[in-house]
Amino acid sequence: MYEELEHIREACLTCHKCPLGNTRTHVVFSDGVPNAKMMLIGEAPGFHEDQQGKPFVGRAGQLLDKIFTAVGLSREKDIYICNTLKCRPPDNRDPLPAEKEACRPYLNAQLDILRPRIILLCGRVALTSFLPQAQSISRVRGQWFDGPYGAKMMPIFHPSYLLRNQSREKGSPKWLMWQDIQEVKKAYDQLEG
Ligand code: URA
Repeated sequence: MYEELEHIREACLTCHKCPLGNTRTHVVFSDGVPNAKMMLIGEAPGFHEDQQGKPFVGRAGQLLDKIFTAVGLSREKDIYICNTLKCRPPDNRDPLPAEKEACRPYLNAQLDILRPRIILLCGRVALTSFLPQAQSISRVRGQWFDGPYGAKMMPIFHPSYLLRNQSREKGSPKWLMWQDIQEVKKAYDQLEG
Protein backbone atom coordinates (compact mmCIF):
# COMPACT_ATOMS: atom_id res chain seq x y z
CA MET A 1 0.00 0.00 0.00
CA TYR A 2 2.75 2.43 1.00
CA GLU A 3 4.69 1.73 -2.17
CA GLU A 4 1.66 2.38 -4.40
CA LEU A 5 0.95 5.62 -2.56
CA GLU A 6 4.57 6.66 -2.92
CA HIS A 7 4.31 6.20 -6.71
CA ILE A 8 1.32 8.51 -6.80
CA ARG A 9 3.05 11.06 -4.59
CA GLU A 10 6.09 11.00 -6.85
CA ALA A 11 3.89 11.55 -9.90
CA CYS A 12 2.38 14.60 -8.17
CA LEU A 13 5.81 16.04 -7.37
CA THR A 14 6.57 16.51 -11.05
CA CYS A 15 2.99 17.12 -12.21
CA HIS A 16 2.29 19.88 -14.73
CA LYS A 17 -1.17 18.80 -15.84
CA CYS A 18 -2.46 22.26 -14.91
CA PRO A 19 -0.78 25.68 -14.59
CA LEU A 20 -0.66 25.46 -10.77
CA GLY A 21 2.41 23.28 -11.31
CA ASN A 22 4.26 26.44 -12.36
CA THR A 23 3.36 28.56 -9.34
CA ARG A 24 3.50 26.12 -6.43
CA THR A 25 6.33 26.07 -3.90
CA HIS A 26 5.55 22.53 -2.77
CA VAL A 27 3.08 19.86 -3.75
CA VAL A 28 0.81 19.13 -0.80
CA PHE A 29 0.04 15.44 -1.05
CA SER A 30 -1.12 14.33 2.38
CA ASP A 31 -0.53 14.14 6.08
CA GLY A 32 -1.55 11.75 8.82
CA VAL A 33 -1.54 7.98 8.80
CA PRO A 34 -1.85 6.08 5.50
CA ASN A 35 -3.57 3.10 7.12
CA ALA A 36 -6.18 5.29 8.82
CA LYS A 37 -9.83 4.25 8.63
CA MET A 38 -10.84 7.87 8.16
CA MET A 39 -9.87 10.32 5.43
CA LEU A 40 -10.51 14.05 5.51
CA ILE A 41 -10.63 15.80 2.15
CA GLY A 42 -10.21 19.58 2.15
CA GLU A 43 -10.15 22.13 -0.63
CA ALA A 44 -6.63 23.11 -1.67
CA PRO A 45 -3.37 24.18 -0.06
CA GLY A 46 -3.15 27.76 1.22
CA PHE A 47 -0.03 29.86 1.80
CA HIS A 48 1.34 27.90 4.78
CA GLU A 49 0.56 24.53 3.25
CA ASP A 50 2.34 25.54 0.03
CA GLN A 51 5.36 26.66 2.07
CA GLN A 52 5.55 23.50 4.18
CA GLY A 53 4.22 20.86 1.76
CA LYS A 54 1.65 19.63 4.33
CA PRO A 55 -2.15 20.05 4.38
CA PHE A 56 -3.96 22.04 7.04
CA VAL A 57 -1.02 23.57 8.87
CA GLY A 58 -2.23 27.21 8.97
CA ARG A 59 -4.82 28.71 11.33
CA ALA A 60 -7.65 26.63 9.88
CA GLY A 61 -5.57 23.48 10.26
CA GLN A 62 -4.78 24.29 13.88
CA LEU A 63 -8.48 24.66 14.60
CA LEU A 64 -9.17 21.38 12.82
CA ASP A 65 -6.59 19.64 15.01
CA LYS A 66 -8.22 21.14 18.12
CA ILE A 67 -11.64 19.90 17.04
CA PHE A 68 -10.37 16.36 16.50
CA THR A 69 -8.39 16.38 19.74
CA ALA A 70 -11.57 17.33 21.62
CA VAL A 71 -13.05 13.94 20.71
CA GLY A 72 -9.82 11.98 21.13
CA LEU A 73 -8.87 11.76 17.44
CA SER A 74 -5.62 12.93 15.86
CA ARG A 75 -3.83 13.06 12.54
CA GLU A 76 -0.92 11.21 14.15
CA LYS A 77 -2.95 8.06 14.72
CA ASP A 78 -6.47 8.18 13.25
CA ILE A 79 -6.77 10.36 10.16
CA TYR A 80 -5.35 10.66 6.65
CA ILE A 81 -5.66 14.23 5.37
CA CYS A 82 -5.54 15.43 1.78
CA ASN A 83 -7.18 17.96 -0.54
CA THR A 84 -9.08 18.06 -3.82
CA LEU A 85 -6.12 20.01 -5.28
CA LYS A 86 -2.51 19.17 -4.50
CA CYS A 87 -1.19 22.63 -5.46
CA ARG A 88 -2.08 26.09 -4.20
CA PRO A 89 -4.28 28.30 -6.36
CA PRO A 90 -2.81 31.83 -6.51
CA ASP A 91 -4.21 34.17 -3.82
CA ASN A 92 -6.22 31.22 -2.43
CA ARG A 93 -8.89 31.63 -5.09
CA ASP A 94 -11.40 28.80 -5.58
CA PRO A 95 -10.09 25.86 -7.61
CA LEU A 96 -11.11 26.07 -11.28
CA PRO A 97 -13.09 23.18 -12.78
CA ALA A 98 -10.17 22.32 -15.10
CA GLU A 99 -7.76 22.21 -12.13
CA LYS A 100 -10.10 19.93 -10.19
CA GLU A 101 -10.46 17.68 -13.19
CA ALA A 102 -6.71 17.50 -13.79
CA CYS A 103 -6.01 16.69 -10.14
CA ARG A 104 -8.88 14.27 -9.56
CA PRO A 105 -7.04 11.10 -10.67
CA TYR A 106 -4.58 11.61 -7.80
CA LEU A 107 -7.39 11.85 -5.26
CA ASN A 108 -9.11 8.87 -6.83
CA ALA A 109 -5.89 6.89 -6.54
CA GLN A 110 -5.54 7.85 -2.86
CA LEU A 111 -9.10 6.62 -2.27
CA ASP A 112 -8.56 3.45 -4.26
CA ILE A 113 -5.36 2.54 -2.42
CA LEU A 114 -6.47 3.50 1.09
CA ARG A 115 -10.18 2.60 0.95
CA PRO A 116 -11.08 4.62 4.05
CA ARG A 117 -14.24 3.54 5.90
CA ILE A 118 -15.18 7.11 6.78
CA ILE A 119 -14.67 10.12 4.50
CA LEU A 120 -15.12 13.68 5.73
CA LEU A 121 -15.78 16.25 3.01
CA CYS A 122 -14.46 19.42 4.55
CA GLY A 123 -16.12 22.50 3.03
CA ARG A 124 -17.97 23.34 -0.16
CA VAL A 125 -15.28 22.47 -2.70
CA ALA A 126 -14.80 18.94 -1.36
CA LEU A 127 -18.57 18.57 -1.06
CA THR A 128 -19.29 19.46 -4.69
CA SER A 129 -16.45 17.22 -5.88
CA PHE A 130 -18.35 14.20 -4.54
CA LEU A 131 -21.97 15.34 -4.32
CA PRO A 132 -22.39 17.82 -7.20
CA GLN A 133 -26.15 17.96 -6.64
CA ALA A 134 -25.83 19.17 -3.04
CA GLN A 135 -27.26 22.65 -2.66
CA SER A 136 -25.00 23.94 0.09
CA ILE A 137 -22.81 22.71 2.90
CA SER A 138 -25.27 24.10 5.49
CA ARG A 139 -28.04 21.88 4.09
CA VAL A 140 -26.11 18.62 4.08
CA ARG A 141 -23.45 18.88 6.82
CA GLY A 142 -23.78 16.26 9.48
CA GLN A 143 -25.57 13.78 7.19
CA TRP A 144 -24.14 10.47 6.08
CA PHE A 145 -23.91 9.67 2.37
CA ASP A 146 -22.65 6.60 0.53
CA GLY A 147 -19.04 7.19 -0.51
CA PRO A 148 -16.57 5.34 -2.73
CA TYR A 149 -15.77 1.69 -1.89
CA GLY A 150 -18.59 1.45 0.63
CA ALA A 151 -17.35 4.32 2.81
CA LYS A 152 -19.64 6.39 4.98
CA MET A 153 -19.19 9.97 3.83
CA MET A 154 -20.11 13.12 5.76
CA PRO A 155 -19.81 16.76 4.67
CA ILE A 156 -18.61 19.03 7.48
CA PHE A 157 -17.96 22.76 7.70
CA HIS A 158 -14.53 24.01 6.71
CA PRO A 159 -12.56 25.32 9.70
CA SER A 160 -11.94 28.67 7.96
CA TYR A 161 -15.70 29.19 7.99
CA LEU A 162 -15.67 28.54 11.73
CA LEU A 163 -12.86 31.08 12.15
CA ARG A 164 -15.10 33.69 10.54
CA ASN A 165 -18.05 32.74 12.79
CA GLN A 166 -16.92 32.80 16.38
CA SER A 167 -20.30 32.33 18.13
CA ARG A 168 -20.74 29.10 20.07
CA GLU A 169 -24.48 29.55 20.58
CA LYS A 170 -26.84 26.70 19.88
CA GLY A 171 -27.37 26.51 16.10
CA SER A 172 -24.18 28.45 15.26
CA PRO A 173 -21.63 26.90 12.84
CA LYS A 174 -19.27 26.04 15.73
CA TRP A 175 -22.08 24.42 17.69
CA LEU A 176 -23.14 22.42 14.63
CA MET A 177 -19.55 21.33 14.01
CA TRP A 178 -19.41 20.07 17.58
CA GLN A 179 -22.52 17.95 16.98
CA ASP A 180 -21.05 16.61 13.72
CA ILE A 181 -17.68 15.71 15.15
CA GLN A 182 -19.30 13.80 17.99
CA GLU A 183 -21.35 11.85 15.44
CA VAL A 184 -18.15 11.15 13.48
CA LYS A 185 -16.43 9.88 16.63
CA LYS A 186 -19.39 7.62 17.39
CA ALA A 187 -19.24 6.11 13.88
CA TYR A 188 -15.46 5.78 14.12
CA ASP A 189 -15.73 3.91 17.42
CA GLN A 190 -18.29 1.55 15.89
CA LEU A 191 -16.00 0.51 13.05
CA GLU A 192 -14.82 -3.03 13.33
CA GLY A 193 -11.33 -4.34 12.73
N1 URA B 1 -7.66 24.63 3.55
C1 URA B 1 -7.85 23.46 2.90
O1 URA B 1 -8.92 23.19 2.41
N2 URA B 1 -6.81 22.63 2.83
C2 URA B 1 -5.63 22.88 3.38
O2 URA B 1 -4.75 22.04 3.28
C3 URA B 1 -5.47 24.10 4.06
C4 URA B 1 -6.49 24.97 4.13
